[in-house]
Amino acid sequence: MPKEKLHHILEAQQFSRQWLEEEFFPEVDYIRQLFKLGAKSYSNFLKGKSVCVLFYEPSSRTRISFGQAAGLMGAHVESTSEAKKFSSAAKGESLKDFIRTVSDYHFDAIVLRSDYVGGAHDAAKVSSEVPIINAGDGPGQHPTQALLDVATIRKFIGTLDGLNVTLVGDLKNGRTVRSLAYLLSKFHDNHLSLVAPRSFQMKPDILEKLSGKVSFSQHSNLLEIAQNSDVIYMTRLQTERIPYMKKLPLSWQFALAKRFMYAKDVSINEAVMEKVRDDAIIMHPLPGSEGFDELPERFTDDPRVRAFRKTDQPGQTGMGLYTRMALLKMLLG
Ligand code: NCD
Repeated sequence: MPKEKLHHILEAQQFSRQWLEEEFFPEVDYIRQLFKLGAKSYSNFLKGKSVCVLFYEPSSRTRISFGQAAGLMGAHVESTSEAKKFSSAAKGESLKDFIRTVSDYHFDAIVLRSDYVGGAHDAAKVSSEVPIINAGDGPGQHPTQALLDVATIRKFIGTLDGLNVTLVGDLKNGRTVRSLAYLLSKFHDNHLSLVAPRSFQMKPDILEKLSGKVSFSQHSNLLEIAQNSDVIYMTRLQTERIPYMKKLPLSWQFALAKRFMYAKDVSINEAVMEKVRDDAIIMHPLPGSEGFDELPERFTDDPRVRAFRKTDQPGQTGMGLYTRMALLKMLLG
């Protein structure tokens, strides 16, 4: 079977199970192994290549890990972290014109976080030569996060089939859970438990696309199903996507959110932790929100929580670096 050539990375559903198993996971394992061995052979993988990192929305992990991934492999990185303020977008330039310009500067890839659904697709339309990597398109998708998430689940649970995965929080506006749901639907016999207050449930558009591919049920209280979960995937309330909230000071946003999101029902607390099995894992794409406290700091070191590194085991954070190195190597190497 010829290898599927990777070009644009736009949405999670573009990846097949075969590609994940035969190309992506082995590449991530290989990169992780190099770090384990202290081998720096990766430093030449992208020598002479260049990557443009273009972010229209705030980011910590995605932007820095992509920059670091490219830099560690020897690529030159050009980056704009607040494209809305500091690029010509502030003068009214369209995303398409910006991408047309940048793709003419002989970059080998463009990592783009856009502020609207479909931004990455629009970029790909005007950048046929230079691959676009969707690093989040508004409340649309976040495919590289979902790839690092499935790599993390595979690492700690050992399989991606037959799992009860519980997605918790703002499933309406969160792009990570949308992309993850698509990827999990590529595997067999998974069940998704969607835990959110009614008005923050996953949107019908995605449920229609998932139906028949993966089974799912909707819930409003994490405590009731914590025991049955192999993976509990926490997310924060995306206040920046809620028009009446985004203008308020953060402290007000959290106070309102706690009230309307029934915080205790969609947060980790002692009662939930009692129910979570020892062989289950708790994940969070981060950032956690201190004000809402869906995964309180006091649980960070619990062995089941896999957001950050634990002694010699990477968390989602480390898996994010390996994933992005693997993707850039596959695209440009
Ligand atoms: C997520 C995002 O930007 O969608 N963060 C990330 O990339 N790790 C999640 C979030 O902002 O809640």
